Amino acid sequence: MFHSLGLSIISIMLSVLCIFLAVSTCCNSGSHSRLRASVPIPNKAQPLVRFNVNGKLKIVQFADLHYGEAPDTDWGPAADIKSRRVIEDALQWENPDFVIFTGDQVTGELMYPNGTDYIHILLTPFVEKGYRWASVYGNHDIGPNLTRLEILQAEQSYGDLCYTKQVRTDLPGVTNYFIPIYAAENDTIEEEQPVMIWWFFDSQGGRNQFGQQPHYIDQNVVEWFRNESQRLRSEWGMLPSLVFFHIPPQEYVTIQDNVLTNQLCDGLLDDDVTPQDNNTGIMEALSEAGGVKTIFVGHDHGNAWCCFYKDIEVCYNRHTGYGGYGTWTRGVRVIDLDIRNLENRTNYVRLETGEVVDNFPRKNVSLRT
Ligand SMILES: *[C@@H]1O[C@H](CO)[C@@H](O)[C@H](O)[C@H]1NC(C)=O
Ligand SMILES: *[C@@H]1O[C@H](CO)[C@@H](O)[C@H](O)[C@H]1NC(C)=O
Ligand SMILES: *[C@@H]1O[C@H](CO)[C@@H](O)[C@H](O)[C@H]1NC(C)=O
Ligand SMILES: *[C@@H]1O[C@H](CO)[C@@H](O)[C@H](O)[C@H]1NC(C)=O
Ligand SMILES: *[C@@H]1O[C@H](CO)[C@@H](O)[C@H](O)[C@H]1NC(C)=O
Ligand SMILES: *[C@@H]1O[C@H](CO)[C@@H](O)[C@H](O)[C@H]1NC(C)=O
Ligand SMILES: *[C@@H]1O[C@H](CO)[C@@H](O)[C@H](O)[C@H]1NC(C)=O
Repeated sequence: MFHSLGLSIISIMLSVLCIFLAVSTCCNSGSHSRLRASVPIPNKAQPLVRFNVNGKLKIVQFADLHYGEAPDTDWGPAADIKSRRVIEDALQWENPDFVIFTGDQVTGELMYPNGTDYIHILLTPFVEKGYRWASVYGNHDIGPNLTRLEILQAEQSYGDLCYTKQVRTDLPGVTNYFIPIYAAENDTIEEEQPVMIWWFFDSQGGRNQFGQQPHYIDQNVVEWFRNESQRLRSEWGMLPSLVFFHIPPQEYVTIQDNVLTNQLCDGLLDDDVTPQDNNTGIMEALSEAGGVKTIFVGHDHGNAWCCFYKDIEVCYNRHTGYGGYGTWTRGVRVIDLDIRNLENRTNYVRLETGEVVDNFPRKNVSLRT
C-alpha cells in the first residue's frame, strides 16, 4: 500500500517533470546547452559497460575532431559538417558498443563564450542514436573562454550515455578515471567481478587566460594510477586493461624510429612525434602495473601506427575530424574485443572512404607495403 502510494507520487512528479521538459524544449530550441545544464540527471545507477551475449564488445576511437575551429568564418562550420559525415559513416559501418574520444574534440583556444555549444553539436549524432561514450581531453580543448570542467559538464548533461568523469578534483587535469568492464549479464552469478579495466588519463596542455599549461600526465596522476591499480588488483586480481590519453609520452619517439624495422608493426607514419613535455613515468608505471595490453593516443594527426613498448601494444589514431592541421584521409580506430581472447586483441582503421586498413597485428608479417 505504502509502496504503491510512493510510486504513484513519484510517477506524478515524473509526469510534471516531463511536461515541464516538453514545454521548455519547445520554447528554447535555440539554446539546448542552457536547457541541459538546468536539468542535471543523476548518474548513480548508470548501467555497467558489458560484453554482449556473444562475448563481443566493439569500441570505436575518434581522435582529434577539432570542432568549432574558426567559428565566425565560412570554412570552420563547413569543416564541422564534414566531420559529422565522417562520424555518421563510421557509426553506420561499425555500429560500436562504445565510443571513445581521445582528445581535441574542439579547438578551444579561439572560442567565444559559446564553446560548449560545439560539444553539443559534436555529440548530437551519438545522442540521437543512443551511443555511449567516454572521453579524455587534449591540449586544444581549452582556451580563455572554455575550461575542461565546462566541457565535462556539457558531456555529463547527457546522463547515462556519458561515462566521462573526474574522480579526484585534487589531481591536475580532469579526465583521470577508469571504467570496469563486465561480462554479459548472468542471473546465476551472485557476486560479479569485472573482466577488464579501461583507464583514462588527462595529459593536460593548451593555452588559456593564464598562459601555456603543462603538457603531460602529472606525476600525482601517475602515483594515483599506481595506487589504484594495486588496489583493484588486490580486489579483483590482475585484469587485462586498455589505456587512453591524448598526448603520446616521450617513449613514442624511440618507438616510432623502430616501427619500420619491426615486422609486426604497421600503420600510417607521416608525422613527427610531439610528445608530453615532461617524462613523469607513466609508461614505466603502466608496464610495472601488469595487465596493461594496449595504449591508445591521438594528437599527431599524420601518425596511425601500432607498435610495442616492452610487451605493451602502443597505438596512435589518425585525424578523424576536418578541423585541425593536415589533409590525411580521415579515419577511426576500431577495437574489436572478444571476451574469450582478451590476451590476443586485434584492431584496425576504418577510413572515411569505407576502406579498412592497418590491421594490427599485421596479418602477413612477411609482406611489407
Ligand atoms: C558562437 O559565437 C560566435 C561569435 O558570436 C559565432 O560566430 C558562432 O556562430 C557561434 N557558434 C554557435 C554554435 O552558435
Ligand atoms: C572570448 O570571448 C570574448 C567575448 O566575450 C571575446 O571578445 C574574445 O575574443 C574571446 N576570446 C578568444 C580567445 O576568442
Ligand atoms: C552464466 O554463468 C554460469 C556459471 O558460470 C554458466 O554456466 C552459464 O553458461 C552462464 N550463462 C550465460 C548466458 O552466459
Ligand atoms: C598513494 O598512496 C600513498 C600510500 O598510501 C599515499 O601516501 C599517497 O598520497 C597516494 N597518492 C595519491 C596521488 O593518491
Ligand atoms: C617534471 O616531472 C618531474 C617528476 O617526474 C617533476 O619533479 C618536475 O617538477 C616536472 N617538471 C616540470 C617543469 O613540471
Ligand atoms: C591470436 O590470434 C591469431 C589470429 O588473429 C591466431 O592465429 C592465434 O592462434 C591466436 N592466439 C591465441 C593464443 O589465441
Ligand atoms: C604473405 O606474404 C608472402 C610473401 O610476401 C606471400 O607469398 C603470401 O601469399 C602472403 N600470404 C597472404 C595470406 O597474404
